[in-house]
Amino acid sequence: MEFETIINPPQEVFDQLAQLTSDPPENWCFKSEDYDLWKATYDQLWLVTVVEKGTTNFVASVSLTRWDGPDGSLYSIGMFYCKEKYRGQGFGKPIFQKVFDIIGDNNATLTGAVKMSAKYDKVFGFNKCPEHWHWFSSVKCADVKIPDIVSEEYSTKDWTEVDYEALTAYDRTICTRDRKKYMTAWFKLPESVTRVVLNNAGQIVGYATIRPVLNNRFSPAPFYADNLEAAEVLLRDLLNSIPNWKTYETFGFTYPGCNKDPVKLLEKFSEGKESISTVKFFRSQFTKKLIATPDHKVYSVSDNAHQFV
Ligand SMILES: CC(C)(COP(=O)(O)OP(=O)(O)OC[C@H]1O[C@@H](n2cnc3c(N)ncnc32)[C@H](O)[C@@H]1OP(=O)(O)O)[C@@H](O)C(=O)NCCC(=O)NCCS
Repeated sequence: MEFETIINPPQEVFDQLAQLTSDPPENWCFKSEDYDLWKATYDQLWLVTVVEKGTTNFVASVSLTRWDGPDGSLYSIGMFYCKEKYRGQGFGKPIFQKVFDIIGDNNATLTGAVKMSAKYDKVFGFNKCPEHWHWFSSVKCADVKIPDIVSEEYSTKDWTEVDYEALTAYDRTICTRDRKKYMTAWFKLPESVTRVVLNNAGQIVGYATIRPVLNNRFSPAPFYADNLEAAEVLLRDLLNSIPNWKTYETFGFTYPGCNKDPVKLLEKFSEGKESISTVKFFRSQFTKKLIATPDHKVYSVSDNAHQFV
């Protein structure tokens, strides 16, 4: 068998990658539309893939994005994956090296899977990390029950009904980099719903986007709230905004392990602790400079391929 490396291959190659990484044991939350989303929003995308020569049969991949800002370009590496039967045969590391070489002297980030994190640190210098790991907690929709009572101090609105400047200003308290362009793109995805939670004084105290992803799951990502009460109101209204949400298999949160509230939130919305499954997922890693995030507000990061919060 011969192989070839293609940068930004046809959609059908991405679709195989999205499906493979959505299946167990990875259970990543992506879908077909993410390829166009990344192409349209980042200042540049390199999806480096190895395929069986002359075909579109996926073998291995890694993606790199460049996100320009006043503080310089932030590069991000994601979607590092090799089809199981081809692992350990030297497909992965060379394509990783290839995208790493593009980064040059700029800051770069990635979300390092448990078994790979130390290697990214030692071999490629991704050694600026927060203390905590990120965890993934999910619940079966069949076990979910919307609580009868949630706080009356908060209410939600669709993102189109709030002042967009105020919403993006709120986001700057989560992510110090300007994400206006990215947020608009997430919110406008065909099947996504975004709701904003406000306190009784009308101030924004959180927001979340929810969308269906592969394998009949849905993904509330990002999900940010200033406190657990506001998060409860937000989750209730998000679920109620998805027709037939009970027919999906699962949903889950990807959150910094120092924040215990995402699990409390899932407990409040399910039959109890046994309904929730939790795995250690990844470490947020940077090469030059760690970009700090307000972890107590983060119930789910927006996209664990190319965003750090
Ligand atoms: C991680 C993965 C992509 C590596 O692909 P691969 O083709 O099997 O890797 P290679 O054959 O090139 O690896 C050769 C060696 O280099 C290591 N290596 C591979 N990529 C590396 C990288 N980017 N940095 C440091 N070391 C790396 C491998 O761990 C392996 O080391 P070992 O022989 O001590 O185990 C593959 O194992 C995979 O798809 N895993 C499941 C998905 C996943 O966890 N992805 C990482 C997300 S952060």
